[in-house]
Amino acid sequence: MGALSLRLFTRPGVVGCRSLSRSSTVATAALINKRSPSLLRPPPPSLVATRGLKDETFSKEASTLGKRWIRPDAPSPSEWEAPSFAFAFDIDGVLLHEREPLEGAAQVLALLDHYHIPFILLTNGGGKFERDRVAELNQKLHSNMTTDNFCQSHTPFQELLPEYADKTILVTGSDYEKCRQIMQGYGFRSVVTPGDIFTAKPEVFPFETVGKEMGKPLPKPLWTPPKVVEGETVKGKVLSAEEAEKEEEEKRLGEHLKIDAMFVLNDPRDWALDVQVFMDLLQSKQGYVGTYSEENNRGNWQGDGQPKLFFSNSDLIWAAKYHLPRFGQGAFQHALVGIWKEVTEGKAELKRTSFGKPHRETYEYAEEMLVRHREEWLKSKGYPQKVVRQGLKRVYMVGDNPESDIAGANDYDGKGKYGTEWVSLLVETGVYNELRMNFKEGDVRKADVVRKNVAEAIKWALMNEGWKVE
Ligand code: G3P
Ligand code: MG
Repeated sequence: MGALSLRLFTRPGVVGCRSLSRSSTVATAALINKRSPSLLRPPPPSLVATRGLKDETFSKEASTLGKRWIRPDAPSPSEWEAPSFAFAFDIDGVLLHEREPLEGAAQVLALLDHYHIPFILLTNGGGKFERDRVAELNQKLHSNMTTDNFCQSHTPFQELLPEYADKTILVTGSDYEKCRQIMQGYGFRSVVTPGDIFTAKPEVFPFETVGKEMGKPLPKPLWTPPKVVEGETVKGKVLSAEEAEKEEEEKRLGEHLKIDAMFVLNDPRDWALDVQVFMDLLQSKQGYVGTYSEENNRGNWQGDGQPKLFFSNSDLIWAAKYHLPRFGQGAFQHALVGIWKEVTEGKAELKRTSFGKPHRETYEYAEEMLVRHREEWLKSKGYPQKVVRQGLKRVYMVGDNPESDIAGANDYDGKGKYGTEWVSLLVETGVYNELRMNFKEGDVRKADVVRKNVAEAIKWALMNEGWKVE
């Protein structure tokens, strides 16, 4: 298909096909409303087969679905019925390649907007304020999204505010300052970067750093072992150097910088500095920068109140403009895990938490966002409360990465508090490569459906919802 012309929803016998210009969509919408439920047909058996769901489930769905599909061109809102399905779109490799919109992406979002089909964008990308990223995307995709239907990899970090809002956290990513501002924007009050620690004590990293920007002053000084005099007498007792240091520590450690948690917001740039600072803290005494916990010597790694470690996603690769997939934040995580393995002689697994797709916490967060957005958005379009309350039954996750988008949707399918069905749609415009990623039946990374691009994917989904697509 050359320049994308989505010929949609025309009823058999309706003359001609239409490209997706605004005027034609209105006309098409009018056509849709006149569509009689008889035109509706249950989804193709292939879906029933792949999802192994009982046949009658679907036919029941499809048969009821039609009646609910009265579009906004119907005379009075009381007749309107809300779509019980919605979309969750991945960004890189589905809608964009870095900053370049992919074919059909803008049209697809315009179409869903026109037919009042809710959607959210669910990306493992990050490193920008949600509002800035949304503005950028709206400009590129001519869409009118808001932060209500946009979830990036670190958006769910806000769930950790109760625990860390008043603690001191360390953050890293592509731009230290931006990462600090994003976390402060969420409500984390004391945010430090590896750049701050390096600026305060360059000896921490005896090499050139990638970033040259100066760090900000630290909220507290960095601990430096006291120069103690061997045989010093304290309270009449002569102390060994070690005892004297311990004494000093007990007295003064609390006055120094303590990190309670560490967050990676997006793909770090200064891996070497970040790895050094993260590893120091993972071996520290309760998160005090510049200390080393004796518990490590007893093999009790991460057993002395070291800071918790959070990654916003674990994508090893992602689809950028280059013709081969590029390393993502997951590569940094694996590098850190590899060094940890060396340091601990493989005796301890690095305890850490990853957010982002495919992790369930992110799908729970995204589903909650989608349910909330759908209700607000449909009400703003004039749908009566009682109609909107009929709820969301099915979400189509459109992604390019089997490891994150697809595995996450398949794993989360029907497991959320709403029991919503998640259907995984894989597009071939991103990291997916049939030769390298040929997953067997039952493999959580195996998509329910594979389509060439995002336009073909939503056509398939609309057909599955009983819409006639030509
Ligand atoms: O760094 C972003 C990348 O990991 C993937 O982003 O939009 O494909 O989830 P996305
Ligand atoms: Mg992607």
